[in-house]
Amino acid sequence: MNISFAASSAALGAIGPLALVVGIGEGGVLTEAAVRVDEATGGQVKRALASTRFKGQAGHSLELLAPAGLKASRIILAGLGKAENFDGAAAERLSATVLGRLFTSGEETLSFAIDRPAKAKIGEAEMAAHLALGAKLRSYRFDHYRKVRDDEKPTLKSVVVQTREPGAAKKAWAGLEAVGEGIFIARDLVNEPANILYPDEFAKRTLALRKLGVKVQVFDAKEMHRLGMNALLGVGQGSAHESRMVVMEWNGVSRSPARKKPQSKAPGPLAFVGKGVCFDSGGLSIKPANSMMGMKGDMGGAAAVVGLMHAIAKRKARVNAVGLIGLVENMPDGKAQRPSDIVKTMSGQTIEILNTDAEGRLVLADVLWYAQSRFHPRFMVNLATLTGAILVALGTEHAGLFSNNDELSERLTKAGLAEGEPLWRLPLGDAYDRQVKSKIADMKNIGGPNAGSITAAQILQRFVNKVPWAHLDIAGVAWQDGEQKPLAPSWGTGWGVRVLNRLCTDYYE
Ligand code: BES
Ligand code: MN
Ligand code: ZN
Repeated sequence: MNISFAASSAALGAIGPLALVVGIGEGGVLTEAAVRVDEATGGQVKRALASTRFKGQAGHSLELLAPAGLKASRIILAGLGKAENFDGAAAERLSATVLGRLFTSGEETLSFAIDRPAKAKIGEAEMAAHLALGAKLRSYRFDHYRKVRDDEKPTLKSVVVQTREPGAAKKAWAGLEAVGEGIFIARDLVNEPANILYPDEFAKRTLALRKLGVKVQVFDAKEMHRLGMNALLGVGQGSAHESRMVVMEWNGVSRSPARKKPQSKAPGPLAFVGKGVCFDSGGLSIKPANSMMGMKGDMGGAAAVVGLMHAIAKRKARVNAVGLIGLVENMPDGKAQRPSDIVKTMSGQTIEILNTDAEGRLVLADVLWYAQSRFHPRFMVNLATLTGAILVALGTEHAGLFSNNDELSERLTKAGLAEGEPLWRLPLGDAYDRQVKSKIADMKNIGGPNAGSITAAQILQRFVNKVPWAHLDIAGVAWQDGEQKPLAPSWGTGWGVRVLNRLCTDYYE
């Protein structure tokens, strides 16, 4: 689907055939474009509004088919809601909703002629770019493995956003399009089944980042063994598929000609770390059948890190960032690790494994340690579908946030709110940390029956030294069963790319 920007056209009646979208303000107020359409059709817009309850509410719309006096094959009157509430998110929801209705309708071209409400919270060019992003995000499909019936096939080939500032809109879109692509990459990875996407295959897919100038290094089990990453390797030892770690580096500061600071004084890179359990059966502490459903998505943290690296490299962000992902498969087997095994992590600390299903923390323990010792990052943020308990606490509305640093927490919280990926901070503390003490090792890999998300985070924190660090528990948001969100029309949501991209743009570029 091609997305483009065009200068607003005064002669709306002359363009077509296409589906033309014009805005209706709260209370049924016609925007300029709606007035023009109304005139060209001899008053059809006003008559239609008079005969329905649609009065321009946000999220609502009305379709006029085969309007008289226009070349357009249909007019969509899209509700803008209250002008003072109209922001980027509102623009995205509007275009996503319209796209959802028209994607397979037979229409080939969709043209948005949305006049920006005077009191809107967003500028003209940004509005246009967010309309484009909403359409793009809604157009996602994961259809590689099924026969698509003719009547399900998308017919829309082109989305045109009319705007008074096409040049500025194109510029704003370049940044957002990169993020949209990153989200698609993350969704694809999460949606892939585990028989296709095992650690080595996942690692191979990250090599595509090289085309964007990202340095990508893949570590196999032998190399990780040499590094002493036994906690990660222990999780993967029952699988027929060998474990991997991928390190991705984007050096956007040294690339940018604008900065001439000496490199030696430069602060370390931003580090993003992802849990990449390609399938989590639980291992010997095997999950019941129902709990195993969805566990192909247990690499959602790693997927988000790859999507993020794509986004920042594609938009040539002026930031140094590294992404590290631990890729394993957690399976029961004669070679699998046992409950009661003790493993020595790369940090030197030992972990008594009492439940092989608490494996994400074992993977992250080694990758966080490696990230911190090699890169001395400015901060580390890790993403992980870590605990079922975070679903009990926060459901699917917020991801859990745990951190040793208030400033980083606040920044993440603000970025999440702005991007529609909200976070909720939960506590850490010594009393929780004591719950993971072991009598015969430095720690055990599970706490007591309560506060499971927090005790998991305490274990991660033991592998973080003084560096500012945040852990996002995304078990509730990385995939969705049942009702799908307007901007995320697939099981895998791609959650995390947006909030982390925003963290970079707002505070570190
Ligand atoms: N991958 C799961 C967490 C999970 C559960 C993600 C449900 C998404 C939906 C994780 O590895 C796990 O199994 N955690 C256990 C920890 C327990 C054994 C202490 C859990 O949450 O039950
Ligand atoms: Mn598990
Ligand atoms: Zn898991």
